[in-house]
Amino acid sequence: MILAANWKMHMGPDETRRFAKRFSELVDPKPDRQIVFFPPAVSVEAAATAFAGRPDVRIGVQDVYWEPKGAFTGATSVALARAAGATVTLIGHSERRHVFGETVEDTHQKVVAACEGGLRPFLCVGETLAQREAGETEAVVSAQLHAALRGVRASLLVDLAVAYEPVWAIGTGRNATPDDAAHVHRVLRGLMAGLGIVESAPILYGGSVNPGNARQLLARPEIDGALVGGASLDPEVWAKVIAEADAAGGAGAPSGA
Ligand code: PGA
Repeated sequence: MILAANWKMHMGPDETRRFAKRFSELVDPKPDRQIVFFPPAVSVEAAATAFAGRPDVRIGVQDVYWEPKGAFTGATSVALARAAGATVTLIGHSERRHVFGETVEDTHQKVVAACEGGLRPFLCVGETLAQREAGETEAVVSAQLHAALRGVRASLLVDLAVAYEPVWAIGTGRNATPDDAAHVHRVLRGLMAGLGIVESAPILYGGSVNPGNARQLLARPEIDGALVGGASLDPEVWAKVIAEADAAGGAGAPSGA
């Protein structure tokens, strides 16, 4: 089970340290449950330091650029992310795609750079409301997955995790039903198998996960974890999401590296 907190553009270094202190009072490590925090880049080092005593916690960046170094104002390379303490990166979050115009070619280059540089990629895919209503969900997630992973050796993707995040569910309070999410997860699992990706690669669900729906979603064996925005910003609420995930029984793939 992987429970990942996407803090988006919230939480400076001081807030990160305060969060980590309270979090450690509220949540004990548990075997087979990995917690990942994606703070903003400026707080990655603070998070890595504050959670250093927690073997169950990984720190990630929300985005990464594929060039190793140079004149790329505003960008973070894989090596810089790792130097700050990150071991994971989100790739292709819907806000990167829809707010910042990130293309599927960009996601491909980022996946390759992350894998080659030793950052575990969490590749995000998901359809918009218009695409869902037009019956295009499977085609959209398939195209996103294939474009990001095409031509990448399966052996380089051993650490890949995928997050299914329907765009219409992100930050809206309207989560996918467990049945709908499980269906798309099965589709993704089939597509990943076709690409030779190990069966233990986790597939997370994201989009308005909260303490009220986490248990139902995570009880589904197709759903190996959650990627959570709003409900991960307050340690008390985040601890409740984790408790609900624990109560769901920890079904699903192992959390991996
Ligand atoms: P949300 O965000 O939980 O606030 O819907 C999820 C995400 O964007 O990863």
